[in-house]
Amino acid sequence: MSELEYKIPSHVAIILDGNGRWATSRGLKRSMGHKAGFENLKSLSDYIFKKGVKTLSVFAFSTENFKRDKEEVDYLMDLLVKKIKQLINKKNNVKIVFSGRRTGLRDDVLSAINEIEELTKDNTEHIFNVCFNYGGRADIVDAARKIAADYKNNLIDLDTLDEDKFNSYLYNNIPNIDLLIRTSGECRISNFILFQSAYAEMYFPKILFPDFKEKDFDEAIEVYNKRDRRFGGIKK
Ligand code: FPP
Repeated sequence: MSELEYKIPSHVAIILDGNGRWATSRGLKRSMGHKAGFENLKSLSDYIFKKGVKTLSVFAFSTENFKRDKEEVDYLMDLLVKKIKQLINKKNNVKIVFSGRRTGLRDDVLSAINEIEELTKDNTEHIFNVCFNYGGRADIVDAARKIAADYKNNLIDLDTLDEDKFNSYLYNNIPNIDLLIRTSGECRISNFILFQSAYAEMYFPKILFPDFKEKDFDEAIEVYNKRDRRFGGIKK
């Protein structure tokens, strides 16, 4: 399929899975898999934005990931603090936002998150939505709590509450996902973005995230182009 015929999904979401297996299969510590995953994310995200994708969401740390060994959790927190600024590529005009609960995160992690959001807040071309301490159900529950609080304070008329309005109460008012990729071959969403993935096309390549490269993303786009998206309707 030629580049010109591609339909480029507007919002791509990736579950960055397989870092641990990538490392252990090489006799390395799991944290080295996260390091390799981060390096891959830097170049891959650049490529994805250059292809014309408007919004990229990634699952970098789930609320459930706190169940892992302290050493691994600390490594991922340190990675964010020390390296997150490397995701800024001045040429790409990308606004970086974080989705997830801010409670329970270390102060230095919160400062790093606030700093990068502030640094990129005026960028308009793309959105890089980093889901960190994120859970899809928590996102919906927290939105319901915000709506209840607004209702109590007479700030919302419930007759105006529709799906778009509900979306605006989620951690970030990100658009619907067109293509959801989970690397490593696992075929489940694992509490990643639930509300906005209602009609997402799913793609589960058997490639561990640190090995998921530009050509593999192109393959994902090819598969996406062969899907018949009907959104519950019937194609005439
Ligand atoms: C899942 O693979 C991956 C994670 C829990 C972390 C993903 C994080 C990165 C790629 C780094 C990006 C970080 C930031 C701050 C943007 P796994 O460890 O569950 O792999 P396994 O299933 O093979 O054990």
